[in-house]
Amino acid sequence: MLITVEGGDGAGKTTLVRALAQHWNAAGVPLQTTLEPGGTAIGRGLRNLVLHTDAELSLWAETFLFLADRSADVAEIIRPALHRGQLVLCDRYADSTLAYQGHGRGLDLDLLQRLNHAATGGLQPDLTILLDIPPEQGVARGRADGGDRIADAALDFHRRVNHGFRAIAAAEPHRVVLLNAAQPPDAVFHAALAAAEPRLRRARLLPME
Ligand code: TYD
Repeated sequence: MLITVEGGDGAGKTTLVRALAQHWNAAGVPLQTTLEPGGTAIGRGLRNLVLHTDAELSLWAETFLFLADRSADVAEIIRPALHRGQLVLCDRYADSTLAYQGHGRGLDLDLLQRLNHAATGGLQPDLTILLDIPPEQGVARGRADGGDRIADAALDFHRRVNHGFRAIAAAEPHRVVLLNAAQPPDAVFHAALAAAEPRLRRARLLPME
């Protein structure tokens, strides 16, 4: 089972992924966590390049770096873990490319869908937890964390990204659960558990109650 956590900059994804991983490890769920960009060795190099280069990067060059990272993550980490029967918890995945490079940067969404399909071999999340936060709030938090080429983009860009994530959630309500990430971290964590655990039980990754 593949669960992805998505959301704008500063929404608290990393804190949530850490809390969920700790909780499910303690419950004995076989678990693999990963993140994009940067889950693999090659991905860490790509992450540094795409987020921190001072050189000019075209929009498609930026996109292909994220897709190269995703392709490596799926091939090296996600698929092998799924074959071992593990739950995979991924901090960002294909929806980030649709929201940031599609809705945010304005690249063609259908083409990005096809490129995501090529990069992932068509592997879709069983559940996506979308952390929704007003862009003003998220961007301030993201910049306090150090910032990068994308976090530092204009507020208008982050508004389009936020709108993009919401559009994805509205189009796929069975896959995507939208959570209010302006709540305290503990409330976000419990809402995420409530969304995920019935599915983990059905997949027999957790005992039935
Ligand atoms: P991340 O490490 O999750 O940063 P944060 O914790 O600040 O949200 O992601 C790094 C940045 O990369 C983030 O600004 C979103 C961006 N990104 C894309 O633009 N497209 C993508 O496909 C992915 C995976 C990330």
